[in-house]
Order: sequence, then C-alpha cells, then structure tokens
Amino acid sequence: MSRRILVTAALPYANGPIHIGHLVEYVQTDVWVRFQKLRGHECRYFCADDTHGTAIMISAKKAGVTEEEFIAKISEEHQRDFASFDVEFDHYGSTNSDENRELCHRIWKSLRDAGLVVEKDVEQLFDPVEGIFLADRFVKGTCPKCGAEEQYGDSCDKCGATYSASDLVDPTSNFSGATPELRTHEHLFVRIEDLHEWLDEWVTGGEHLQPEVANYLKGHFLNDELRDWDVSRAAPYFGFEIPDSPGNYWFVWFDAPIGYAASTWAWCKANGDELDNWWAADSDAEIHHFIGKDIQYFHCLFWPAMLKTAGWKTPTKVHIHGFLNVNGKKMSKRDGTFVRAETYAKHLDPSYLRYFFASKLGPKVTDIDIDLEEFVTKVNTDLVGKVVNLASRSAKFVETLSDTYPDDGGLFENAGAKGDVIADLYEACDYNGAMREVLALADAANKYVEDNAPWTLRKDESKRDELRDICTVALNLFRQIAIYLAPVLPRLAEQTGRLLNDPIGPGDWAKSKQPLLVTPVAKFEHMLTRVDPKQVQAMIDESKEESQADAPTSAPTTESSAWNDSSEPLEAEPLADECTIDDFVKVDLRVARVVEANHVEGADKLLQLTLSLGGDVRKNVFAGIKAAYDPADLVGRLVVCVANLKPRQMKFGLSEGMVCASGPGKSEVFLLSADEGAKPGQRVH
Ligand code: MSP
Ligand code: ZN
Repeated sequence: MSRRILVTAALPYANGPIHIGHLVEYVQTDVWVRFQKLRGHECRYFCADDTHGTAIMISAKKAGVTEEEFIAKISEEHQRDFASFDVEFDHYGSTNSDENRELCHRIWKSLRDAGLVVEKDVEQLFDPVEGIFLADRFVKGTCPKCGAEEQYGDSCDKCGATYSASDLVDPTSNFSGATPELRTHEHLFVRIEDLHEWLDEWVTGGEHLQPEVANYLKGHFLNDELRDWDVSRAAPYFGFEIPDSPGNYWFVWFDAPIGYAASTWAWCKANGDELDNWWAADSDAEIHHFIGKDIQYFHCLFWPAMLKTAGWKTPTKVHIHGFLNVNGKKMSKRDGTFVRAETYAKHLDPSYLRYFFASKLGPKVTDIDIDLEEFVTKVNTDLVGKVVNLASRSAKFVETLSDTYPDDGGLFENAGAKGDVIADLYEACDYNGAMREVLALADAANKYVEDNAPWTLRKDESKRDELRDICTVALNLFRQIAIYLAPVLPRLAEQTGRLLNDPIGPGDWAKSKQPLLVTPVAKFEHMLTRVDPKQVQAMIDESKEESQADAPTSAPTTESSAWNDSSEPLEAEPLADECTIDDFVKVDLRVARVVEANHVEGADKLLQLTLSLGGDVRKNVFAGIKAAYDPADLVGRLVVCVANLKPRQMKFGLSEGMVCASGPGKSEVFLLSADEGAKPGQRVH
C-alpha cells in the first residue's frame, strides 16, 4: 500500500555556508526520500533556512545590510549548494515567512488556551547605589543553611550549600556595601512539565526514537521535573514579535521547528494541497524528522509537546545521526578539513561523497569519520572498479539486448530477491548494510563477466549471439545495481536509464525483478571517473586558504562602530583595580578538555565536570552552568580552567578548580574555549 510520508531535515542556520558536516544530514535524508519515492510512496521532502536570532542580527549588521537582505543571499547560496549535491527538496522555504508567522500565532494561542504559558520574572540583584546588576559573586551575606557569615552569593564555603544570591541573609553589594534589591525582567515560559506523562510515553514507547536516544532523554530529563522553557527574548531581536507581549520576541528555537509546517504549507499552496492533509492529528501521513544529535532536546521534548498541545500530528519518527569527523578529528579550519560544500564541488564529484556517506551511515547515533585516504580507495575500488566497470566492459559490445533472458545460473533472480532485503535496510536507515549487499551483488556480477570475457568473444564472428547474451546478462545485473543505488546515486541511475532506453524513476524499485530485453543499447557515455588524490589535496588546500581569509586578522570590512556592542556589561561590572604581572601569574590558567559532564542529583544550578589536563591528570569541578549547557554538548570540548584553585569541599563532593566563563548567570553563561589546536594542559598566559 502506498504511504504518504512527510520528511524534513533540520533547518540550517542562515548565518553561514553549508559544509560537508551538514551534508551528512541533508544527503542521508535525501537518500531516504529518494528511496521512498522509488518504492512508489508519496513522499515529500521539506526544508527551510532558520533565519532568526541574535547571531543573524549581528551578522547582518556586520555586513552592513538588512536582516532580510542577509538571509535572502544565504538562502540562495544554501539552495545552490544543496542542488549541486543532488539534494532535492519538494520545497525549500524560510522561517521568516508569512506562513511561519501565522502558524506561530496559532500554536501560541493553543499554548495560551491550554494554560501552559507562564510569565516569570527573571530576577537579578541590583545595586541601587551603583546602578548595576550584580553577578552572584559580587554579593556577600549569611548562608541561609548554616548561618556562616561572609559567604558568596552562589554557594557556601563552610557547608557547601548552593543557593541563589537572593536567598542570602543580610546580603550586601561588594561595590557599595548597599543592600541590593531584586530587579526583574519578564520572560514567557512554556510549562512542559504538564505534558510530562505524555512525553514519557512518547519518548520511551519504542516507536518514535532510536533506543539510545530514548534512554538518554529518560536519564537526563524525564527522570526529573521538566523545567519551564523560556521562549521569549526582549527587543532588539530579529524574529517574530509575540502578539500578546509587545517588545518580546519568540526565541528562535520556538519558531524554527514550526518552520517545518510552514514549508509544508507553502508547498501546499503552490500545489493545490491542504496543510491539514499532512499535519492534522487525524491525517494518514507519516512525519519523519532527520536531525543531528546536538538538537535532540528540542525535537524530542519541546516540539512534540507543542504539536500535542496544538492538536496537530506528532512525529512518527525522529531519526538522529552523529557528527562528521575528518581523518579521525573534528572538522578543523586550520587543518583545512572544514570543507564547504561549494569548495568540495569545485574539486570532486558530489556522487563520491554521497556514496561514501551512505557506506558509513547506520541506524545508530554514532559519529562517522571520513578518512580521506579511505575515501579515495573506496570510491575507486567500489564505485569505479566494481559498479561502473560492469557497464563499461559490456555496453560497447552490444547494440540491442537479447529477446529472451539467457541462463545466468540464477544471478539475476537472486539479485532480484535481494531487493526486499536491501529495501528493509534503507527503510531502517542502515545504508551501510544496504551498500554491503549491493557490493556483494556487484562482486558476483563481475565474476560472471570475468568468467565469460566478452572482450575475447567479440573477436570471434561466430559467437555474436553468445556475446549478446553475455552482455544482456551483464547489463541487466548492472541495471539492478543502479536501481538499488539510485537513492544514493541519482545521476548514475539517470545515465543507466539513458544507456538502456528505460528510465529509472519514482515507483521503479520493482523493475529490479524484471529483466530488460530487446531494447537498444545507447552509446556508452562515461559515468564516474577515478578520484585522483591530488584533487582531494587541492580541496583541502583551498579550504585552508578560505579559513585564513575568514580569520579576524584580515582587515575588518566595517567600521568598529558597526558592531554596536552594548556598554551594559562593563557598566554592570567595572574594571577591577590594577594588578601586576606577578599577581596575574599566581592564577594558573590551563587548557582542559571536558571528558565527562553530568547532572548533579539535587543541585539545580550545577553540573559536575571531569576535566582532563592531558595524560592521566583529571580534575573534578562543579560549575554553575546547568541552565546554560546540556552536559552532552560539553563532552569533548576544550575549556579554560583555574587549575591551582584551592580545592573546596562542597555538598556534592570536592571541587578542584573552576572553569572560566562570562555572562551574568543562569542561561546566560558563556564558557571560554581555546582555538582549535590548543592542547589540554597548556598554560594560558
Ligand atoms: N537551525 C538549527 C536547526 C533547527 S531545526 C528546526 C541548526 N542548524 S545548523 O545549521 O547548526 O545544523 C543543521 C543540521 O546539521 C543539524 O541537524 C546538525 O546536527 C547538522 N550538522 C551540523 N554540523 C554537523 C556535522 N559536523 N556533522 C553532522 N551533522 C552536522 O541546528
Ligand atoms: Zn553554609
């Protein structure tokens, strides 16, 4: 039975170019969509640029253009890049569209009607004498737990209690000695805790998510009360103003997923379809989201909760993939492995990358690695050596295929039957498994060609019929492979269609069970050539050059005033008294790698971090960054730590250092990191 399947890939941020890391996702999704279409299902692939937020606002300002101009240019570039990799969307929209605004309004109304929107004052202590907001550490007072005096605003040295500065008894400002007052700023929150039970079932029910994802969400979020989600940002902000809260805007992550439906709607309008046919709760369509592991929190908790509340259809599946590494390391500008889609396409055939990714992608959330030597070998051995070679060694010896299918010892029938196995693998996103099955078929077919050596037969006039039969078999085996690879290699499928005068299009998967006969064979056109490692090197070199051009050392293109950075932070926290270099070196700052990050039972602000200073040297640190960081996002990253800070016994354990960060606190905390290339243990001067 034909299914109706709506598929999305995450909406790329409109603040930079598409790179090969992104392509893991857009290619993976495109393969799945093409597969479904080939199987005869009605499948639609929707995407859009994710255009809102502070980063884009700042980028536009820097470029000296309006936000609208900025995102229009990026959209054009993104679409050009996707097209060059044969990533074919049914619609590519923008979150800054009328459809999206309208749908945001509708969902917002549902949230309001359900009583899920709460207004909460985000509180901070304010020094009325100095007129500044006070970070926790600039307030001192008496510990609310043990009564110890002179304690800082975040935790107690004596008993290890952690609290917020406003809980201190008799607080004083470090600056003026005045009693600080609480000043408030109103934010809007969505109380998703109300959907906790439903989310629990949705996440752990076993149908919607990969098991490791469900476990992660259960362990990290669903075992605790779900925190209210802060969905508003105060002006200035590039986004949609909240209709019933003037001066406040929806946080970009609120309107971004709604962009999936907005893109669907724009397509519907252009194609005489209705949004409800896809997104209404009772629609018979399936909804599949493909995303990377970094954004599962939004897609597997908030988004289903919003859809559920709005009475829309909730996702059938969220397919989550890992991250791309190059040569075993994170993509790096310095190494030239941060390769833009555009740069890749200048040097290498996009089909190679599609095939390589397919051969690496499985159903698990593991990261994938592109080892550039393996890339060259795999493309040359598998694609050129085994697949294309089949056609190039048989097509030129024959003008039309035989009238009846010759005896091939069961090769064709076997490969036809394999179609079901391969289809199941594609369906389960096990492309790696599918590629292995296809390659095994190619091996068997190549053996047949070797054994029958058409290039020898062709020298013997009396063996014309035999030659034709052998080539008929070889080309039919090749065509089966081209059909099975069509989701990955649409260009090869097209060329095969032209070669054998029978196109491979939507609904044609079953053609792999039916041999092609009689048809004329067109002149063989060259399909894929071997990769030359020099092309790969040229691509890496060019990527290195680009990143040097991007570096801040190059002359700034706009005046410094164009940045328009607020004077607030410095006013809130004036510069400290002068210090000498001797004072400074007392603090031993080191680069460290976060090797473990965990929530701390019972602590609402802290995360526990295990920092590595290289070798076996580890430090246990409790950092008040829980509201700003997801532990999973921290593991692996480099931070700067105060490595010689006197250890401090806290309620939760011994804290052996501090990680450096800026920002006023709560969700506004920004960890310092070291540029790529820095090594754990190195001193920061
Ligand atoms: N704008 C958000 C998504 C909003 S969806 C409603 C976003 N954009 S992104 O441009 O940063 O990333 C887009 C997708 O590409 C994400 O799913 C992300 O996981 C994926 N990838 C980005 N870099 C990647 C790698 N290096 N490797 C694999 N996937 C990567 O997140
Ligand atoms: Zn105390």
